[in-house]
Amino acid sequence: MIRVLPQLLSPETVLQARQLLSGLSPVDWTDGRHSAGSQARQVKSNLQLPHDHPVAQQIRAWILAGLDQSATFFSAALPLKIFTPRVNRYTPEFPHYGLHIDNAIRLRADGERVRTDVSCTVFLNDPDDYDGGELVAQDHAASHRVKLPAGHAVLYPGNTLHEVTPVTRGQRLACFFWIESMVRSDEQRRILFDLDMNLLQLRAQHGETPETTALTGVYHNLLRQWANT
Ligand code: NI
Repeated sequence: MIRVLPQLLSPETVLQARQLLSGLSPVDWTDGRHSAGSQARQVKSNLQLPHDHPVAQQIRAWILAGLDQSATFFSAALPLKIFTPRVNRYTPEFPHYGLHIDNAIRLRADGERVRTDVSCTVFLNDPDDYDGGELVAQDHAASHRVKLPAGHAVLYPGNTLHEVTPVTRGQRLACFFWIESMVRSDEQRRILFDLDMNLLQLRAQHGETPETTALTGVYHNLLRQWANT
């Protein structure tokens, strides 16, 4: 399931993030291959901010706060753990990240293992700032091309082949991270999300009825069947 989260970051926060990023010097950025698995390393050419860089820490804090406020994020990802969000940059010199599947398990700095059920990219600058730089993700038979306004985020299943196409002009700034979900299966998460969103609509149209109460019970009983906490 590919899902857009509009304005995960407010325009004001995006502006602040951009100001912090534009104040960086080239030595602040490190080679993105350091954090890739052996297959992915061969097709990866981008730049990243180290996790402990103050600018990375500030942007990460804004993003985690945005996720906390997003009911859509919670319903779509059903998060159990989040892997430390990382800021990255693509330029014509470090232009792309070829087709790959992310490693299934990531080790966080605190020693916690995170299974990468769901991937998230938060766009930090606007599509007009660069040419190329589309996130292309396979979802079943379909291929989705994603390039969103600054502050918007996209969720896509961690078990899909994906790539970032070459940036040929300007720079693409983004933040990406993974979520270990309480529900491992993308199919099951999709069913729960559809049920949850339709229940919201039903309640908005008709208020609470015996049927919405019963269906809410169905939602929670499915979650009880499928969730690991
Ligand atoms: Ni990836």
